[in-house]
Amino acid sequence: MRSVNKAGCLIGLVALLWLNPAVSEAADPEVLKPRVPESQMAEARSWKNPFPPTPENIEKGKALFHGKGFCVTCHGMDGTGLNIEGLRGKLPRNFTDSAWQAVRADGELLWILKNGSQGTAMAPFIPLVLTEDEAWHVLLYVRSLKK
Ligand code: HEC
Repeated sequence: MRSVNKAGCLIGLVALLWLNPAVSEAADPEVLKPRVPESQMAEARSWKNPFPPTPENIEKGKALFHGKGFCVTCHGMDGTGLNIEGLRGKLPRNFTDSAWQAVRADGELLWILKNGSQGTAMAPFIPLVLTEDEAWHVLLYVRSLKK
């Protein structure tokens, strides 16, 4: 029985080391879980960004991200998300995470900017801080941060 446990541990350890590169790719599998409630998902995913990702539009989004939108205070200068102590719930999203970028539709991100992410420091920004058009520009910048 003892040796079976030892063998089990060894297999577990080997599996962990083997899987490690995949784990570090998407550091926290929690971030891949949908944030939009099931009942609103179909509607949110149908919203499309009306602005094309031209250099001018991305630059406009960047200025809002670092300026009036103050996204930079939590998501950081490079968009990787600051490790801020004391935030309720989750840490600010790392926008360079390609696994996270791949699972989210643009409409889901706009939904977050309208409603916030419940139980976290991510508050609603539309309409008090950003207009919907401004938010779409910020999201073009967020998309451009993908590594
Ligand atoms: C006070 C800190 C704070 C500010 C300011 C902030 N965020 Fe966030 N943001 C967060 C946190 C914390 C999360 C993680 C929420 C979660 O895991 O559900 C998050 C998550 C997100 C997400 C990911 C939601 C998802 O579906 O995974 C997006 C997109 C986002 N923020 C965009 C923005 C934009 C754009 C701005 C500026 C207009 C902004 N945030 C400003 C803290 C902040």
